[in-house]
Amino acid sequence: MFKKLRGFRDIYPEEMRARREVINKIYSVAISFGFQEIDAPSVELLDLFRVKSGEEIVKQTFSFVDKGGREITLIPELTPTVARMLVAKKNIVKPVKWFSFPKMWRYEEPQSGRLREFYQFNADIFGVEKIYADAEVIALAMEILDSLGLSEKYVMKVSDRILMEEILQNMDVRDMDMAFKIIDKKDKMGEEEFIDAIKGFVPEENVDALLEILSIKGNFENVLNKFEESNRIRTLLNLSDILKGYDKKVIWDFSVVRGLAYYTGIVFEAHDYKGELRALLGGGRYDNVVELFGGPKTPAVGFGMGDAVLEILMKRENLWPEEKIWVDYFIAILPDHRKEAIEIATKLRRKGYSVDIDLMERSLGKQMKYANRINAEKVIIVGDEVNDGYVILRDMESGEQKKIRIDSIP
Ligand code: HAM
Repeated sequence: MFKKLRGFRDIYPEEMRARREVINKIYSVAISFGFQEIDAPSVELLDLFRVKSGEEIVKQTFSFVDKGGREITLIPELTPTVARMLVAKKNIVKPVKWFSFPKMWRYEEPQSGRLREFYQFNADIFGVEKIYADAEVIALAMEILDSLGLSEKYVMKVSDRILMEEILQNMDVRDMDMAFKIIDKKDKMGEEEFIDAIKGFVPEENVDALLEILSIKGNFENVLNKFEESNRIRTLLNLSDILKGYDKKVIWDFSVVRGLAYYTGIVFEAHDYKGELRALLGGGRYDNVVELFGGPKTPAVGFGMGDAVLEILMKRENLWPEEKIWVDYFIAILPDHRKEAIEIATKLRRKGYSVDIDLMERSLGKQMKYANRINAEKVIIVGDEVNDGYVILRDMESGEQKKIRIDSIP
């Protein structure tokens, strides 16, 4: 017997049914925000991720050399692909608002909320420099979580790489990429290990000041009004104001910097309110990627949300849909009436009902047992009455059974 690989999932019908319900809700919120769906290849040249994603993600790729000698990888994230697609499409109307829900692969150590294969919802806006686009994607991310019943169960933490860079520069930090990479790992490290690591980029005398900055979180106004007024501070306060118009409340958190190398402005992550789980979603502004890929300078902002932590949180909060299969009708067939039964099934199927039908010529008792197992809401028994235009309709919940005319089947 073969076993599945570690970090991969087999998804059976009951689980898929629940998952589909969640996915459909996410789609409908994205569509309600005027985003358009795209799809993209599952493999790309490895070089695409070498440009600006950062070495960590390249290390995590499932990559291989193909028969043509090219270095290929299963996609570990979608952002470079989306930027590539944008560059390839000439004369595109801005702003571009794209979403998709592809599978992706990362060779990580499998653990709670982190798999080697997962789905990741992506939404991005291209072509808008103004903070309105940041607000729109953050509001979308939050509306998705809210629509799934998670309103009180997560916090949206926002920070800004521009402000953070200024602060780090004042602390004599030179290697920003390294600083962001290490700060992003803060929660995964012990305190001492973290302090040792930051000594690699910040002078000893500024370590305490940096630790203090990283511990600042809370209300936007409270945090930002402590800084000297500047254009950037005004923009950030404006973001929080605009989000109030969307009926969304976010908090400021300097320890959110994001691990990927391409972010250039606002960065954000949603976390479970108890802080037990890995990030639910993450994103931010990346204004240089399209240009780096050979396109015109195009501001961009977006986020990715995996399905794994979302599922864990929804299950913990009893919000995950019931994992149960069902059909609207099961058509039970008595000997010699298959033709009429198939006609009835076909009619109902064309009307949009889900209809299962006996395929095994089992006894009526066994057919009813099966109907029960697949949670059929109603069973139609096609027997000799069909010669006079009648069938038996059984409501599986109440157990009520009656003889009805074929043309009156609901
Ligand atoms: P990321 O932070 O690498 O960002 O991933 C975003 C989300 O994908 C995470 O918060 C998590 O929900 C999910 N995720 C990541 N790795 C795994 C894993 N191994 N197993 C399960 N879920 C995972 C990005 O990928 C950016 N490209 C997002 C983005 C889009 N930024 C702008 N636009």
